Amino acid sequence: MLTEKDFIATSYNSIESASFEWSAPSNIALVKYWGKKENQIPANPSISFTLNNCKTITKLEVVKKSENNSFSFDLLFEGKPKEDFKPKIQKFFERIEQYCPFLKEYHLKIDTQNTFPHSSGIASSASGMAALAMNIMSLEKAINPTISDKYFYSKASFLARLGSGSACRSVQGEVVVWGNHAKINGSSDLFGVEFSEIHSNFKNYQDTILLVDKGEKQVSSTVGHDLMHNHPYAERRFAQAHENLSSIKAILSTGNIAEFIKIVESEALTLHAMMMTSMPYFILMKPNTLEIINKIWKFRNETQIPVCFTLDAGANVHVLYPENVKANVLQFIQDELVGYCQNGQYICDQIGNGAKSN
Ligand code: PMV
Repeated sequence: MLTEKDFIATSYNSIESASFEWSAPSNIALVKYWGKKENQIPANPSISFTLNNCKTITKLEVVKKSENNSFSFDLLFEGKPKEDFKPKIQKFFERIEQYCPFLKEYHLKIDTQNTFPHSSGIASSASGMAALAMNIMSLEKAINPTISDKYFYSKASFLARLGSGSACRSVQGEVVVWGNHAKINGSSDLFGVEFSEIHSNFKNYQDTILLVDKGEKQVSSTVGHDLMHNHPYAERRFAQAHENLSSIKAILSTGNIAEFIKIVESEALTLHAMMMTSMPYFILMKPNTLEIINKIWKFRNETQIPVCFTLDAGANVHVLYPENVKANVLQFIQDELVGYCQNGQYICDQIGNGAKSN
């Protein structure tokens, strides 16, 4: 079992210059992470589907420099300098410095872009931090070719976690667990691990993301996680996440979609219930979020087509369904749900299997 100490790079060489490019996808949690301890340690374990189409593509160019007492980097978004992203990246480098001391030996040029529209309400922090972490691991591999694949991917996820918690679930695998769970072998608070006992019913599972509100979130997830400290329902909620993870583990391996729907929708509403019952309290759903949820329930009742929803920390709705009902569900979305989306916009995605080197 890899521990935090194992991720401290100690022996490595240096190179004059190099360039790398990785894409990393977004992910959607089925059992939600909401609440954390020090150092991005989750208050409860979570599990997610890795997406395929919503991703960040990041290129990293490194050039050796003469001094090594500070981080030095340029940050470009879609090819243009993006000063307002820099403080977040600076903070990330400071957090990972002890694990990647070699970073200060280079000037870095980071050029990043997303495949999904900017400010679509789809968080780019998971895919963005995962893509950057992959590139940093490619640099580590270039200066220390002896590292194993297991170390490479586990440390990439470990670093991504320090950037943005759920980013650690965007590195490797179609379904990823993050956080210690008694019944999931190898699960860790430090990094995400692939969960591979998946029934064929979930193969190419679809996620159509309905863009209900593309505005800036009124409450960031950082603030939201913090509000779980002293939250009246926190302890029960954390225990429930462990229970739901046990249930969904069995559901994913037996292919029981009816039970899958119960857990996934309950988790989405519980996440928002935690927001509504914190102090201060807040609501991230919009009227159209509720309209869509009600339409999905009505459609499911009437047709018996196993379509369900989940939410992340925002108003957008992720519509989840098996591949074999894709045509019916897309027709339903066109006929009945598009009217609730901002400018009629939605994104078709499905399960993918993680970061790729380009
Ligand atoms: O990774 P963060 O700190 O942005 O938190 C993400 C939290 C949720 O998206 C609401 C749930 C999850 O598990 O992804």
